[in-house]
Amino acid sequence: MEQDMILILDLGSTENPRLAREIRALGVYSEIYPHDITAAEVAALPNVKGIILNGGANRVVDGQEIDVLPEVADCHLPLLKVDHQGENPWPAAEAERKAVLQKFIFETCGAKANWNMENFIQDQVELIRRQVGDKQVLLALSGGVDSSVVAALLIKAIGKQLTCVHVNHGLLRKGEPEQVVEVFRNQLAANLIYVDVTDRFLDKLAGVADPEQKRKIIGAEFIRVFEEEAKKLSGIEFLAQGTIYPDIIESGTKTAKVVKSHHNVGGLPEDLGFKLVEPLKMLFKDEVRACGTALGLPESMVYRQPFPGPGLGVRCLGAITRDRLAAVRESDAILREEFAQAGLQNKVWQYFTVVPDFKSVGVREGARTDEWPVIIRAVNTIDAMTASVENVDFALLQKITARITSEVKGVNRVLYDLTPKPTGTIEWE
Ligand code: XMP
Repeated sequence: MEQDMILILDLGSTENPRLAREIRALGVYSEIYPHDITAAEVAALPNVKGIILNGGANRVVDGQEIDVLPEVADCHLPLLKVDHQGENPWPAAEAERKAVLQKFIFETCGAKANWNMENFIQDQVELIRRQVGDKQVLLALSGGVDSSVVAALLIKAIGKQLTCVHVNHGLLRKGEPEQVVEVFRNQLAANLIYVDVTDRFLDKLAGVADPEQKRKIIGAEFIRVFEEEAKKLSGIEFLAQGTIYPDIIESGTKTAKVVKSHHNVGGLPEDLGFKLVEPLKMLFKDEVRACGTALGLPESMVYRQPFPGPGLGVRCLGAITRDRLAAVRESDAILREEFAQAGLQNKVWQYFTVVPDFKSVGVREGARTDEWPVIIRAVNTIDAMTASVENVDFALLQKITARITSEVKGVNRVLYDLTPKPTGTIEWE
């Protein structure tokens, strides 16, 4: 294995991810573990050079202060004890904090700054081969950043032992299923099963107006289709998942509060009966993107804006109809094209269009029209918990309006959503 590692043991700090990022920014790999990790578990981890005991506000659990096991405290690895209010506080100043870390990591532990994408990929290829052996692996490839990067990494590690299944539920954006087929089947020569189940999904969703009901149907049907495809294959032992580090952190450690449970279309239940391969589970999002780039995936795939699992299904408001769904897809494609041309592609966090299920009166070539409006939403956020509205240039909005009202069938108005989160949510449903 190529990389040295510093372990962070969680003694109730809310800042473990920040600390892991700071250590990685110094070029040294770092992972977070619960406070009660055993000495044998530490010994089983590769290239551990030192341990940071990261105390914090949640150190008292059920009336008792938690601590590491004595066998870990005495395990002869260099230890740094830090706290946010206790005996060994972090220095307040950002620079000073870095100096403490540098001194510990490089001088006390003697770790090398050898954390980079090439070494990460090399290590993962070795680990995946070791884990999988000559067995077969299955992956639900949505075309999102995480599943695409997992696919590329597994193709590098085990080639045709991986089978990817791309389920087109009819709610993807314009050009997405085609890009998945082009990149993975044609360019990377992957084993790719492409299933177009648009009709099946739209039939199931017909007349369903409640957003949560729509989400449930889309999620459950996705799992059903995937299971059906998996049953047609024989000898699959492993399921690969695009789990990333924030998914694990957000799902809660032993001391942190659960921020949200992670539920997604494409996030398959663990009881499908496969063993899991999750090679990205220790990477933050920007590191996943860097990994995808290093593996040669196209920028449009790696720097894709977030896209909800239920896809355009929650942007075609109320009961989904094929004509309004087409209006969402076409207007979204125009918005993306114009934002890209204006250089906004990677500057605005998330932007999309919404088509509500009502019409308004308009006029076209002297005659009355009864057509839908399209709503444009463009927002910036750090964590999607709150969001501010992008200040889009008025002339650009006018240009997009002109294109949408002339090119998208059934649309006579365009609106721009000025609402931050709160009080709006990012999506309309
Ligand atoms: P809201 O609308 O809750 O959105 O402000 C916050 C972020 O979450 C995305 N989102 C979803 N992602 N499944 C997903 O995978 C969903 O059901 C879902 N609903 C919202 C939304 O696009 C935004 O990035």
